Amino acid sequence: MDRYGVFGNPIGHSKSPQIHAMFAAQTGQALSYEPLLAPLDDFPAFARAFFRDGLGANVTVPFKEQACRLADLLSERARRAGAVNTLKKLDDGRLLGDNTDGAGLVGDLLNAGVPLAGRRILLLGAGGAVRGVLEPLLAHKPATLIIANRTPSKAEQLVHEFAGLGPLAASAFEQLGEPVDLIVNGTSASLGGELPPLPAGLIVPGRTFCYDMMYAAAPTPFCQWAAALGAETRDGLGMLVEQAAEAFELWRGVRPDTAPVLAALRRQLNAG
Ligand code: ATR
Repeated sequence: MDRYGVFGNPIGHSKSPQIHAMFAAQTGQALSYEPLLAPLDDFPAFARAFFRDGLGANVTVPFKEQACRLADLLSERARRAGAVNTLKKLDDGRLLGDNTDGAGLVGDLLNAGVPLAGRRILLLGAGGAVRGVLEPLLAHKPATLIIANRTPSKAEQLVHEFAGLGPLAASAFEQLGEPVDLIVNGTSASLGGELPPLPAGLIVPGRTFCYDMMYAAAPTPFCQWAAALGAETRDGLGMLVEQAAEAFELWRGVRPDTAPVLAALRRQLNAG
């Protein structure tokens, strides 16, 4: 059977095996997809061993940058992201590294009916998660894309690197104030139950859409904050499914229908 999997450490909590099993069943593809617990101190050897017979793999925390170095060639978006979440063994044996995270975010925003062209977008955070989505967001021609981060120098660095691709600006949280159309939370603050210090004036009730790249059974602190101010909100479960669909298509040449898979995952998450 054609073999796929997801590298991570830890990996037990990953929803990717389930998502890809649902995609495979839905599209009639015969394949296996396993969680792959890679050792923290020797990812490259572990990954190479898998690819002796494996055809493709996703990559999650903390190996995305190492996977970028492992790949023999990179897609343009992976090169810019400096991180790889999808590896594919090509017919000649070389490993292609791609990054489908940004396409996953954009795909899920479009699923939610959120327009991007001509809009004022605020991105929170300046780590790997934000770096990975900058190019795909800018490709949709926002009016402006502001990156705000707790450590402002990191936001400035990203603006410097991606400036040629669109209208970017860096900001500290304290400098924010003007209303925006879309806020995307790419910080890991939700993990600790925290929220960046954001002024309420960013949100216009009924107009501003707020997206958290994180997800949980209960609304994240960011989504709670936004909903209390009258914004429509969405968490990152759909992004997870969309980035998986993009990887599945790269491997198998078939695009799965993501809506029923997202609905099944949501039901399961809510059931605890
Ligand atoms: P990832 O790869 O998930 O993006 P990361 O590279 O460690 O992880 O980046 C985490 C991001 O969340 C950073 O932008 C971090 O801000 P700093 O650059 O100032 O460290 C942000 N972050 C983490 N915890 C936060 C908190 N409690 N409040 C605000 N921002 C936070």
